[in-house]
Amino acid sequence: MRRAIPGIAAVTAGLLLLAACTALGTSQGGPLGGSAPSTDGIGPITFAIGQDDTNWLAPVIAGWNKLYPKQKVTLLLLPEASNDQLAQLVANLQAKSDVYDVIDMDVIWTAEFASAGWIISLPQSQFPLKDFLNPAVTTAMYQGRLYAVPDYSNADLLYYRKDILAKAGMQPPRTWAQLRTLATTVAPRYGLYGYAGTFAPYEGLTVNFAAAVQSAGGSILSPDGSKVTVDSPQALTGLEFLVDGFREGWIPKVSLTYEEESAQAAFESGKFLFLDSWPDVYGAISTRSPQNKVYKKFGVVALPGLNGPGSSSLGGANLAISAYSQHQRTALRFIQYITNLANETTMLRQGSFPPVWTQLYTSRSLIASYPYLPTLEQAINSARPRPAITSYGQASLAISSSVYQALTGQKKPQQALAEMAGQLTQIMSGG
Ligand code: GLC
Repeated sequence: MRRAIPGIAAVTAGLLLLAACTALGTSQGGPLGGSAPSTDGIGPITFAIGQDDTNWLAPVIAGWNKLYPKQKVTLLLLPEASNDQLAQLVANLQAKSDVYDVIDMDVIWTAEFASAGWIISLPQSQFPLKDFLNPAVTTAMYQGRLYAVPDYSNADLLYYRKDILAKAGMQPPRTWAQLRTLATTVAPRYGLYGYAGTFAPYEGLTVNFAAAVQSAGGSILSPDGSKVTVDSPQALTGLEFLVDGFREGWIPKVSLTYEEESAQAAFESGKFLFLDSWPDVYGAISTRSPQNKVYKKFGVVALPGLNGPGSSSLGGANLAISAYSQHQRTALRFIQYITNLANETTMLRQGSFPPVWTQLYTSRSLIASYPYLPTLEQAINSARPRPAITSYGQASLAISSSVYQALTGQKKPQQALAEMAGQLTQIMSGG
């Protein structure tokens, strides 16, 4: 493991970025500042990213390595689940390890990483932020500064079995009532389970809960993020929608074990009428393979809500530079490269991840291949971010464990929300 010298790491980081900004010709330098000479910040780097669906990256990184053999990028794969990625990153960053240079951060971590000083703020003028989706850019900001660069955005969508709904003469649902009716009547008639989502007790459950709450008109925190608002009738309606699904059986118990990959595999194997998941599933299940039983048999729409279309959780990832990286100038250039229009187009085409460049959502040729792009853009624009707080990891754990207890019948929904609200209030007051 490469290791920065503890104590001077943060100062060095500032100097390196300043050098990078100056050399790259920006007038808006990094905020860390400094005037002493430093190394040039150029050299091989490691790019840490969750292992989920990263196949599209290999040729893009190979392209960079060919152009810049002395600034070789090595891919370091983190675990699949967001929580596990966080645990690994935090352990290394707390130890001031310089093992990571560029970190692909879940959008929910910005406040935590920036406030801890683990990542450096970046020169905004070096990135085409005005061409990026605004909600994605917002997730990369902390206290008015840019701490990461949007890589991909995300909003969960509803996948449905087009072939089955057509046979039943039904349209995809727009409301929860319609979803429930189809899941309880049409699904069993065709030997299918109703609805799958990521309901295992981890970040994916927080995502589903947040979407259910806001799709019923509620919220977890007040708009300014200062007050816990989750113990409300609207949030109760949202949670009860999920609890009722499990009680009535149209969300089968097996869904309580699903993370992204297992939920996708279940839908792909032809067992479910509906799946709530991220857009990258679209690419995976559009590929013909022996295990893919839904090839050309599925469609995708916006998530349904209480009385009309619902509101997704805003997901996605941003690229940050570790405060302990020895090669921040290369890191910055690599981030510019990986988020350029050509590579973001490749990411959409090869990986089905939602790009952050707004113009890709209106490109006729892309819409011809990915007809759901306008739906996705709308879902991203109407999605809500999860709480942007410095102790997000702890808060999310409090949310997902309370929700899990309600889904498994250990707690009444009302009680689960009251306890969750108490825990969140305590976490936010630093207790
Ligand atoms: C996806 C989303 C991310 C979310 C995670 C939950 O990776 O992009 O924001 O936290 O799923 O499992």
